[in-house]
Amino acid sequence: MGKDVIIACDFPTRSDVMGFLDTFRETRKPFVKIGMELFYAEGPSIVREIKERGHQIFLDLKLCDIPNTVKSAMKVLSSLDVDMTNLHAFGTIDMMKAAVEGLTRPDGTRPLLIAVTQLTSTSQERMEKELLIREPLADVVLHYAQNAKEAGLDGVVCSPLEAGIVHAHCGDGFVTVTPGVRFADGDVGDQVRVTTPAKANEIGSDYIVVGRPITRAQDPVAAYTRCMLEFTGKI
Ligand code: C5P
Repeated sequence: MGKDVIIACDFPTRSDVMGFLDTFRETRKPFVKIGMELFYAEGPSIVREIKERGHQIFLDLKLCDIPNTVKSAMKVLSSLDVDMTNLHAFGTIDMMKAAVEGLTRPDGTRPLLIAVTQLTSTSQERMEKELLIREPLADVVLHYAQNAKEAGLDGVVCSPLEAGIVHAHCGDGFVTVTPGVRFADGDVGDQVRVTTPAKANEIGSDYIVVGRPITRAQDPVAAYTRCMLEFTGKI
């Protein structure tokens, strides 16, 4: 598995995201994440347009609904040529199995499908008080990861701090995609379970998802390059 940095393109409009991606014209085309904000604003055409520019795409819509609805939605998404998409493990093993079925194209191929475990903005305290989940957060993440594996998914979204334990129990080939990454000298913002790109590499993340530290940097290309160097050792 090649390690990579995925830039979270959390922009409100097509022109904002295209303006941002234009700054990478002379460099390697980064792997990008399209989330709800941009997808809801611009629709599937934005996915096709960014793909045509040569970027790999993680479509981050975090589906969670009854199995039949998720299966149908995944079937629609399977026709978009994305490389990775996701759902909430919270939706149960049945929902995840239905998602795999829906996402698999008639020729048997499909994008990587990964499950969100606990959001990296969730703390142990909030999980206990608001969600009434009393187990240690790392145990919850691991349990959801094991459910995802049982359902036939390819990996999970988790905090970099949990990537090691997920690999230890679910295998090295089970992909860990980890947001909540910050430079040692940067702002944490609303994220709670955070670490640096270098530390995420040490713990074993396969992909780090980095948004604001790159998209809001004075020089996004320099921030991306720094991130790639810290995480993968190369650009
Ligand atoms: O700007 P920042 O680096 O915090 O962006 C992180 C991105 O990763 C956001 O797009 C957020 O939606 C996403 N994400 C996350 N935690 C998860 C799953 C996805 O922060 N558990």
